[in-house]
Formats: sequence, structure tokens, C-alpha cells
Amino acid sequence: MSTIYLGTLAHLKANPFESAGALEIIESGALWVDEKGMIIDYGKRADILPRVPEAWIEDYDDAWLIPGLIDGHIHYPQYYATAAYGGQLLDWLVRSILPAETAFADPVFAEDAARRFIKQLLACGTTTAMVFGSQFSLANKALFNAAKESGIRLIAGATLMDSPAEGIPDILLQTPRQAQDDAEMLIKLCRNEPLLHYAITPRYALSCSVEMMRMCADLLKNHPETYLQTHINENRSEVETVLRHFKHCTDYLEVYESFGLLTGRTVLAHNIQASDGELARVAHAGCAVCHCPSSNLFLGSGLFPLARHVNHGIPVALGTDIGAGTSFSLWKNLSDAYKIQQLQGLSLDVAHLLYLATLGGAKALHLESETGSFAPGKSADFFALDFHQSDYLAERLHQCNSLEEQLFCLLHLATEREVEATFVSGSRATP
Ligand code: GUN
Ligand code: ZN
Repeated sequence: MSTIYLGTLAHLKANPFESAGALEIIESGALWVDEKGMIIDYGKRADILPRVPEAWIEDYDDAWLIPGLIDGHIHYPQYYATAAYGGQLLDWLVRSILPAETAFADPVFAEDAARRFIKQLLACGTTTAMVFGSQFSLANKALFNAAKESGIRLIAGATLMDSPAEGIPDILLQTPRQAQDDAEMLIKLCRNEPLLHYAITPRYALSCSVEMMRMCADLLKNHPETYLQTHINENRSEVETVLRHFKHCTDYLEVYESFGLLTGRTVLAHNIQASDGELARVAHAGCAVCHCPSSNLFLGSGLFPLARHVNHGIPVALGTDIGAGTSFSLWKNLSDAYKIQQLQGLSLDVAHLLYLATLGGAKALHLESETGSFAPGKSADFFALDFHQSDYLAERLHQCNSLEEQLFCLLHLATEREVEATFVSGSRATP
């Protein structure tokens, strides 16, 4: 039997950076989903309901139904490392983050954390996440298992480090051989799981030897269905250190370029300090970039140049970057994304913001045929946002003159507490 979900629908029909009228809001809306969790149609409830008198109805009243959020960058072994004091990127990594990641050597601890991590994402309305995994194979297996149990769409891979440097605990280092064997085991696991994907994950230029980078390039070539994710151009001292280390490279991008790591399936996190030359080459290679607003603010990394990325035609996703990010909610990160662009003279409207967290993220991750909007044929990945959970929020929305105004307020004022339910492929994934 099919199901019809009732509520106020909001989603993007197109890319608002390219076309006007891309945002669609339907008051008294209906989302019609088949028994396999695929969207059959959507529209006004008065139009949809008479077409399927036998459907099961789930009535969310005037709650908003919004496509599942797509978190393009988050670290699983930093689940317990949010809000850790430690200065800017390189100091913070050594002082607070790498020690926290060693705890995932314990498979029992890692398995428990994996379940909590996925549960927390779903509670925030996130239905797709691109994840930097642990350095420990059993921990990563637990992550994929937790994702499979919960139904979330997951792209993840082991976070690779083999360059011993001051402050990196030895236990976090792998050999390229070991890393390759672990990756191949998980790549095989993903083959039979439509919602699970493997991402080859060299942590960043300073963490990987030439041999590790070459191994990553070979994996990417041998397994074209995989993704590659890494960090780039996040922090000024990081860029200077990278250029001191890779003397033959004129910029950070050239490090990855020289190893053949830039493809249409590469997702580069941050890219705040990029030159125009680097942006042109990122665009030419077809890579996507993931902007992580609350992380950039927390670490004081800088203001992401969104307009320059868009002007170069680079697909941009949004990420929470837990533990540098201060919220698991990508929705909350949208408010920071707005403020970061405000500081650069760009006032993003609600269509552009919602696009980045949904359809734009899906496009950046090549998942737009499966998720990111309510287009018929896609999976029913969505969440219900009930603004009545907060008296103030309901009062504030009541003063708005349009639904678009209400949605803009919600982007800034709603939190995960207002997420009433999250669905992936039509199945409720939250209690
Ligand atoms: N660069 C290398 N590792 C990391 C990490 O764990 N977090 C962030 N934000 N940047 C990094
Ligand atoms: Zn990161």
C-alpha cells in the first residue's frame, strides 16, 4: 500500500544559482510514496488525496516536510571531540582531535559510538552523510553496519595517515598495504548495498606519504564506483606548511593533482584559501567542494568564497565537519553559512540556502537521481519540522507575511529539537 504524508512541502526543483523560481513551497501539501519508498508524486493535498483513496495517510498537519539534509563532510571518530579547546587547525588536531581518535581502536567503544553517531545525524534530519571514518578497520565495519541497520545513505572510508609527525600517536598510522586491504574489504561490502558507498580518504597532504597517495590513486582507478575525499586549503599555516613540505608544488591543489587524485568523484573539504588558478583547475577536473560553516568559524579558518566557487561552476555541498563543527545539525549550519556570506557582502536567500543543504549536496555527490528533492522517482528521504515544539518559534512564524519568510526564519531559528521524524527511502528512521 502507498503512503501519503501531509504537511507544508518545501524543496528545490532546480539550481537557484542558475534559474529563478527554483524553490517550491506547497501549503497543505501531500507527498505520495509507494511501498518501496519511492516518490510517486507530490502536490496539493486536495489534488493528490482523491487519486489514491486507499492510501495510508500520515498527517503532519502544518509541520514542514523537507528533503533529507545532505552532510558532505563529517568525522565519525570525532563524535566525542566537539567543542574541544585547542586553537587553530594544526594545534587543535594535535591537542584535541588525534588523541580522541585513538579511542576507536577499541571495537566495543567504536561500535557503540557508530550507532550513536548515525542516530544523532538522523535526529537532525540528515539522511545522507559523507564521512571520514576511523583508522581502525573494525570501527569502520561498525560504522557501515550501523548505517545499514538504520537505513541512512552513507559514503565513508578509513581516514588515512602514514606520515609520522610530531604529535601524531603511532597507533593512528597505517601502512599503505594495510590501508589497501581494509579499503578493498569495505568496497566489496558496499557492492551489494545500494545505500552504502566507499570513499578513499587520504586525510590531507601532510598526513600521507608518496606511497600512500599512489595507493589511493590506484584504488580510485581500480574501483571507479568509489569516491575520494580529503581536506584542502583550510587554514593559512596549513597551506604554508604544505608548500614547505612539497617544494615542487606551486599550490596546495597541485599536491593532489600530481598524484592523480582529482576526478569527478573527488570531494574537497574547505578550500577557503584557494587561488583563482586552483578554482579553475578544480572546476576543470570536475571535483566538488564541501563548505563547512560552523567548523570554519570555530577554528577561525576563514570566510568561504562561495561566489568564486559558483562563478567557476564548482558544485558545492555543505558539511558539519564534526568535531570542528559545533553542531550535528546541517540545518543549524545553514545559519552560519548565511552569516559567512553576509560578511562578504552576499545575502543568500532561502532558496540558495536550502539548495546547498539538499539538491545541491546531492548533485555534488552524484546522488541527485536518488535524493535531494521531491521529484517523482526519487527515494522518499525527508524530515518533518514541527515549529510548535517552541512557543517562540510559533509566535515568530505567525508574524511572517509569506511561507518563504517563514522558511527563512526556520533556517535561522529551528534546531534539531524541532525535527519530529526523519524518513529514508520511505521508512521512518527516528524513534
Ligand atoms: N585537516 C586534517 N584533518 C582534519 C580534521 O580532522 N578536521 C579538519 N577540520 N581539518 C583537518
Ligand atoms: Zn574535516
